[in-house]
Amino acid sequence: MKKIVIFILAALSMYAREFIGHVPLVEKAKEVHFGGSHLNSPELLHNILHYQKWGELFVYLQVHWFRVLFLGITIGVLVVFLLHYLIIGPKKFSHEGKGFYVYSVFKRVIHWLAALAFVIIVPTGFIMIFGQYFGGGEFVRYARYMHSVGTVLFVIAGIPMFLMWFVPMLATFDDIKWFMILGGYLTKKKVVVPAGQFNAGQKMWFWVAMVGGFAMIITGAMMYFQDFDIEMLKKLNLDQIDLIRIAAIVHNFLGMAVTALFITHMYMSLFAIKGSLGSMIDGHKSEDEIKYMHSSFYKKLMKKK
Ligand code: HEM
Repeated sequence: MKKIVIFILAALSMYAREFIGHVPLVEKAKEVHFGGSHLNSPELLHNILHYQKWGELFVYLQVHWFRVLFLGITIGVLVVFLLHYLIIGPKKFSHEGKGFYVYSVFKRVIHWLAALAFVIIVPTGFIMIFGQYFGGGEFVRYARYMHSVGTVLFVIAGIPMFLMWFVPMLATFDDIKWFMILGGYLTKKKVVVPAGQFNAGQKMWFWVAMVGGFAMIITGAMMYFQDFDIEMLKKLNLDQIDLIRIAAIVHNFLGMAVTALFITHMYMSLFAIKGSLGSMIDGHKSEDEIKYMHSSFYKKLMKKK
């Protein structure tokens, strides 16, 4: 029986090498040991043999689709915004007066911590996806470490960010109206846009970054640590390696959504509205911008005044 298993594994590995090329993922273990870890346990061997379950789908996506989709989405989103900038151009609002104080120091610090986290996470994720074009090895491994550092920063920033903004980010009727005119971004004219403190586009970014971000932390941790409690998995009727495969698939698809909206957020805050960055620096947003782009919020502020 042992010989048959070894033969099948050898045949499978030769086939896999033919199919996906040689990918040295981890250094060879010097000796097999079971001390405290499930990674070298016999159950893992058993699970690898159930390749057809999730393994086939994972290898298919990994070999044929993930890179293409990541590149396609990134280039596609950049091209759309380049065209938007050239054809419609940025919105300009008067910055006269003090404006309204909308982002406290705490909110700004948390925001920039999250921004720093993403500025590390997104490019290092790309380096890993396209690792072979960067020569693999040390450089890609370093990117992987930095990806984890960025993730820890995101955990630190993500929790307070979620707590401080989840109430104003809840959906309202304004959001449907906002989507119907795509936030007024398809016209050069200054139009009054139905939105509260945050518009539907900003809300979409918030929820994708928060819910998607936390799901990515969990799936990322599953891939990073890999070591699951086999007894618990057995009770749940789950295989260890299949869990890692599912985690990798979910992580990649969420990564695409987060990347697309991250680029969108940067375009909106750096280019689409002139001077928007200032609000995240000194906390003040121009009255003219709030009047047009967040008309419901403006009415509320005027009532308070
Ligand atoms: C370098 C990257 C980033 C830049 C340049 C940037 C810039 C900005 C600016 C200028 C604003 C204020 C927009 C306004 O009120 O008009 C803002 C708001 C916000 N940012 Fe960022 N940001 C970045 C990264 C991030 C990241 C990574 C997250 C989430 C994890 C995030 C989440 C938010 C949210 C939820 C808001 C409030 C709603 C909105 O304007 O979308 N930002 N950002």
